[in-house]
Amino acid sequence: MPGEYHFTHKHVLGLADFSVADINLVLQTAESFKEISTRSIKKVPTLRGKTVINLFFEPSTRTRLSFEVAAKRMSADTFNISSSSSSTTKGETLIDTARNLTAMKPDCIIIRHSRSGSARLLADNIDASVINAGDGTHEHPSQGLLDLMTVKEAKGKIAGLKIAIIGDIAHSRVAHSNIIGFSKMGAQVVVGGPATLIPPGIEEMGATVSRNVIDAVDGADVVMALRIQQERQQDPLFPSLREYAGFYGVSPKVVDAAAPDAIIMHPGPINRGVELDPRVADGSRSVILEQVTNGVAVRMALIYLIMGGN
Ligand code: CP
Repeated sequence: MPGEYHFTHKHVLGLADFSVADINLVLQTAESFKEISTRSIKKVPTLRGKTVINLFFEPSTRTRLSFEVAAKRMSADTFNISSSSSSTTKGETLIDTARNLTAMKPDCIIIRHSRSGSARLLADNIDASVINAGDGTHEHPSQGLLDLMTVKEAKGKIAGLKIAIIGDIAHSRVAHSNIIGFSKMGAQVVVGGPATLIPPGIEEMGATVSRNVIDAVDGADVVMALRIQQERQQDPLFPSLREYAGFYGVSPKVVDAAAPDAIIMHPGPINRGVELDPRVADGSRSVILEQVTNGVAVRMALIYLIMGGN
């Protein structure tokens, strides 16, 4: 595999733990794995005999399936457990559930949970490798990495680009992983949205704040819209979705303020007509489905690297 640098992480909990060399190795490995998904027989024996468990306590379309497809394309055995089918519904703790799963000797547990820190809690208490597939409002590292890969593919570089991230920054683990990842790789990250959805201290992660969306997007190479995470808001943080769409939605007019060759991104799921105008979501600059394609390659790389591949 590419380069001399060796990946030493047992777990993937957040991009805050990753060096620039780690990120570059994941992206190079993902680029080399991407071709496998274009073959008529989309399977290699790389992880034959390895066991991967998807433990998802929150809904997911892209991430859960993408990790499963990634593991299966490398011939690992995969198993899925959701919150409704797990014994946590009978009162078992998360750690007890994970320890019982570990007793069946999996090599890797991929967890999504509504609580920030749940992936680290698991990593501290079980023997298997843990990959964070989104923990509360904390981080979603594989999404951050697939977004980095998509930008690098589209623009040929990451350093020096302006990345505008618009929407619910406060509740978005995707925003947090992207701010950390893009800043580490030398991009300028500007976040925009209503004051109630921009958390204090976000500058410490590496972002600058612009409450006016047109200013945030001005000259940007990448415009990333984020979903309003109503499931994480205790009280309404803006008057109505209609007003939100009018003031903060990424519309053709907002996109006109970006660089002429700017790309449009969204991690999904999209609330069409709220944070993203359908004309923008489906327009020629949108790379939203490329993000999903790259998600499989990035997750193949992550599973491969934490299992000792280099
Ligand atoms: N981007 C993302 O995490 O999507 P899912 O919630 O469908 O996994």
